[in-house]
Amino acid sequence: MGRNNNKVYVTRRLPGPALEMLKGLGVTLHKGQEPPTKKEILKNVAGKDAILCMLSDRIDKEVMDAAGPQLKIISSYSTGFEHIDVAEATKRGIYVTYTSDILAEATADITFALLLACARNVVAGDRMVRQKKWKVGWMPDLLLGHNVHGATIGIIGLGKIGSAVARRARGFGMEILYYSRRRNEAAEKELGARYASLDDLLAHSDFVTIHTTLNDASKHLINRERLEKMKKTAFLINTARGAVVNERDLVSALKKGTIAGAGLDVFEKEPLGKSPLVAMKNVVLLPHIGSADRMTRSRMAEVAAKSILDVLAAGKEPDPKFLVN
Ligand code: DGY
Repeated sequence: MGRNNNKVYVTRRLPGPALEMLKGLGVTLHKGQEPPTKKEILKNVAGKDAILCMLSDRIDKEVMDAAGPQLKIISSYSTGFEHIDVAEATKRGIYVTYTSDILAEATADITFALLLACARNVVAGDRMVRQKKWKVGWMPDLLLGHNVHGATIGIIGLGKIGSAVARRARGFGMEILYYSRRRNEAAEKELGARYASLDDLLAHSDFVTIHTTLNDASKHLINRERLEKMKKTAFLINTARGAVVNERDLVSALKKGTIAGAGLDVFEKEPLGKSPLVAMKNVVLLPHIGSADRMTRSRMAEVAAKSILDVLAAGKEPDPKFLVN
């Protein structure tokens, strides 16, 4: 490892064709399941022309320095790119690419999985059956949940993922509100979504779902004050980034009954580890698997590898669809 003739450093084994596609360029692969440490990254990027990284790898100035001036592209196997110092890369003429909207549909699916699980006690029901606590058979009031059909969903961020969620919500016969920094009238027409201020969305939604990127403006967007604006019967769903929600405020809102519950695929610190959330009955927790269906992950790998091939093998710019900078 370290300095050799390989041109690409790949920070994790990937499902799908990426490694095969990049074989001709010479790949240094981090083979462990755990993310590489910063020390390992610094050592293995040395002399590389391309880095194929994950959302858990921080690619900053120090990494770019360690790679050297020949580094041409940082290709992230993710739709979020807050783990990359894009400004620094741009300054150095390094392309930054991501897998853009490839995972929109998969993430919208998991959003609905969480929404339905929260609303209809799916996890509690499964537990009851397995733990042999289902004693009476059918009962008129067993595990009564919340209706999804006819309920109002509030979508924060109507980009590709938010829009895919809105399409599903429409199929479920829901009222759709959305809040985003810019109003999207074309999407409103297509999706039947109504624009609302954040306060109105929080006050009127039965399910509030987050689909914004993480940046300075969205960090802790959902905090105590905003949770208090939600209905007591509402659920918060987060499949975007953990830090959009102030997790401490969320825990206390869930304990106090400020909101009914939450479905979370992402956390401020991952893996979650020791957290009061783990002991709570009114939450459904997933290990950041929003995009984890075989087809999507394989397509993401293909796109991430193709961006590198475009630059290193074909000597052209990456497809603008996947270019961040
Ligand atoms: C991403 O790509 O940013 C997603 O969170 C991965 O599931």
